[in-house]
Amino acid sequence: MKDLEHLSADEWDEIRSPRPEITDFDRVVERALSRRGFMKGVLAFGSGAAVMGSGLLTSTSARAQEAANFAFEGIPIQTDGTVHVPDGYDWQVLARWGDPLFSDAEPFDPETGITLASSDRVFGENTDGMETFTVDGRQLIAVNHEYANVSTNLPWKGDNAFTADDVTILQNIQGVTVMEVAEGADGWEVVVDSPYNRRIHHNTPMTIAGPAAGHDMLKTEDDPTGTTALGTMNNCGSGKTPWGTYLTCEENFNGYFGVADPEVEFSASEGFARYGIGAESRYGYELHQARFDVRKTPNEPHRFGWIVEIDPADPESTPIKRTALGRFKHENAAAVIASDGHVVVYLGDDERGEYLYKYVSTGTWAEGQPTEGLLDDGQLYAARFDDDGTGEWVALTPEATGMDAGMILIHTRMAASAVGATTMDRPEWVATNPVTPQGYVALTNNRNRGIKPNAGGDPTPVNGPNPREANNYGQIARWMPDDGNHSATGFTWDLYVMAGNPIVGQGDYIGSENITEGNLFNSPDGMAFDTTGTLWIQTDGDDSNEGPYTGMGNNQMLAGDPATGEIRRFLTGPNGSEVTGLAWSEDLRTMFVGIQHPSAPFPDGADSLPRSAVVTVRRADGEPVG
Ligand code: FEO
Ligand code: CA
Ligand code: CA
Repeated sequence: MKDLEHLSADEWDEIRSPRPEITDFDRVVERALSRRGFMKGVLAFGSGAAVMGSGLLTSTSARAQEAANFAFEGIPIQTDGTVHVPDGYDWQVLARWGDPLFSDAEPFDPETGITLASSDRVFGENTDGMETFTVDGRQLIAVNHEYANVSTNLPWKGDNAFTADDVTILQNIQGVTVMEVAEGADGWEVVVDSPYNRRIHHNTPMTIAGPAAGHDMLKTEDDPTGTTALGTMNNCGSGKTPWGTYLTCEENFNGYFGVADPEVEFSASEGFARYGIGAESRYGYELHQARFDVRKTPNEPHRFGWIVEIDPADPESTPIKRTALGRFKHENAAAVIASDGHVVVYLGDDERGEYLYKYVSTGTWAEGQPTEGLLDDGQLYAARFDDDGTGEWVALTPEATGMDAGMILIHTRMAASAVGATTMDRPEWVATNPVTPQGYVALTNNRNRGIKPNAGGDPTPVNGPNPREANNYGQIARWMPDDGNHSATGFTWDLYVMAGNPIVGQGDYIGSENITEGNLFNSPDGMAFDTTGTLWIQTDGDDSNEGPYTGMGNNQMLAGDPATGEIRRFLTGPNGSEVTGLAWSEDLRTMFVGIQHPSAPFPDGADSLPRSAVVTVRRADGEPVG
């Protein structure tokens, strides 16, 4: 287990599905040459394409942002162990891993860890997506805790096997925190003992709802109805429904399942292979809990990989797994009301060569109307991007896929393969522009692009919004739905930015024209729009500041202007960390930003243990951030 601990989920995928020995190099070169002309057409802000001259830009996008001026000067890169923000802004720590949510909880102790009794009563580990809510005038935040660092949390274990209690501790420190926060004279603090404070973890009872609920593939000995589950896991990005509930997104759930007895031969089914479920797990849950042993409980993994809806206003509410939104490695959930009133949720599947999806509700919704069925009754689509700058959302129906309605949702990846959707460069967060009808997806990187098929064997040709072979920098693609209606099946698309390196890069690896020596970054990941239509971009990439990453420094957060393409660096994170998760206070004067898995002694400095933390960023003059 120790050797595997420091693998990213993405490296873990590679072990499950190794690269073929021989690659067709000639074919790759041929594609690279033939796409030269095409690249000019789809890059909104680069490679010589005049921004407004591109026929792909709609008139709505050209007049998108009137408030296009940033209120800050971009900051330089950093390689140190703390957070930096522009002049005129300040940051503070709001909550670090292990801070008590209740006064009876003992905080995390770097020497002795967390006690079992306190492990589900403190702020969880590895902060990720988060959203804010105002309930009865109180400021609540729901925050994801994506995974656990075993060597941080159980450091005294060494090579000794985990006990059942160790496993429960690991399960309790992941999941979701809902907490109340308040701003006082000294800044923001967690309201300890607030009636809204709540931890949701790997053993919290959940309801399974929607078309796949009750399907045979979801039934287990503990739940013969296939309608209830224990826990939500690997909670990555987030979303917020228009009616004020939280959406948490189950991403790399596959790593939590294994086979307890190493002597038993195990061969993965097609479905397990596609989702990366194998005999070896990351945390050894299966040694103590039979539901995580895929030989004993083969349907348990089907009960994860969903979008889960949580009502932060009701601490007694049961979270609901919404199967209508499909099962894959969910990154985040960008919900928007289309111009015709349908609820649209855009969804990315973060693995090399997987797909971009959207859900459209059958019913419509307006403020104050009932929400029943809106996330249960609807159509799921996968995106096909064509090289001419148009695209289509292809409905995943039984007719189109040859699968029954339940299986389409349980094995969504296979359904998308069946309709020939476009294999993408690891779709991370999706964000929709509140000023004009546009969707943006962060395609973080894909070193296998043009080289290796996805886990289902679908080719990953250099094409469409994935224009670079062995793409190590990433790009942000965007689409403009036909008629400005997010529920339409047609769209036009372009690339908002291609990350790259004008210092050391060559050819397409220089990046698009809105990449300058002053805003270098790689691997865009988290994304959200503020209410003025500024796109905030967070990174989770290589922070070595060497080789192809020279001049990029630590992971960071940047602000992008959708109309002009300008991108400015706003915040840099501590060394080793990923910057992920952002939300705003009700009055927009505070931005909450997540710092995950620092390797520097952050946030407490000196020789302290590195701990994930949520920080607040405010303008010194009290104006809204940005
Ligand atoms: Fe959890 Fe794809 O990031
Ligand atoms: Ca992410
Ligand atoms: Ca990432």
